[in-house]
Amino acid sequence: MTSHPPDADPEANETEESVELRAASQADLLSVFRIEKSAFPQPWPFSAFERFLGEPAFLVAVRGPEIVGYVVADVTPNYGRDIGHVKDLAVRPDARGAGLGRRLLSQAIRRMAADGATLVKLEVREHNDPALALYRDEGFELLRRVPGYYEDGETALVMVLDVDEWFDAQ
Ligand SMILES: CC(C)(COP(=O)(O)OP(=O)(O)OC[C@H]1O[C@@H](n2cnc3c(N)ncnc32)[C@H](O)[C@@H]1OP(=O)(O)O)[C@@H](O)C(=O)NCCC(=O)NCCS
Repeated sequence: MTSHPPDADPEANETEESVELRAASQADLLSVFRIEKSAFPQPWPFSAFERFLGEPAFLVAVRGPEIVGYVVADVTPNYGRDIGHVKDLAVRPDARGAGLGRRLLSQAIRRMAADGATLVKLEVREHNDPALALYRDEGFELLRRVPGYYEDGETALVMVLDVDEWFDAQ
């Protein structure tokens, strides 16, 4: 397996100094769930977040006493090419546009790489321009379109990222 730089958040002391990223805990879940409901037309149920507690790439962004964003991701073994999956990512509306979504995504990729992932995939609504811009900018590429993937009929774009290439670009 390719070795990568230490599992550190390289931007931790550069931008958004007052926002810390750390592993999610049970006490964070109500705030996470509130953000989820404000961010998505079909939010995950509370219990879905509980199931991911303890995953290395379930992270929250904390500003003072407040949770202002989160990412949920995990790694599935896949015959020598373990696949990371970004399952959920959101930033509280009032905290958007300040680099937090990118920091959460980057740190989740680092955690998944440390966990063995060489490829990371995700699904995104085809009209979710802010998320698409972020993913494309980080190097995610379109793998396929899945018409009707979401309950309201919107198409999903399945995107993939080669982890080695991502580290090379950092
Ligand atoms: C997608 C989301 C997580 C981005 O979080 P954020 O903290 O606002 O993003 P950042 O400030 O880190 O921006 C990173 C990049 O995303 C893109 N981006 C962010 N907001 C954007 C917007 N309103 N329009 C276009 N591109 C945008 C840009 O490429 C930006 O890079 P730049 O600042 O160098 O231009 C946030 O918009 C969100 O929570 N949306 C609702 C939930 C959601 O759709 N999650 C993704 C599910 S797949």
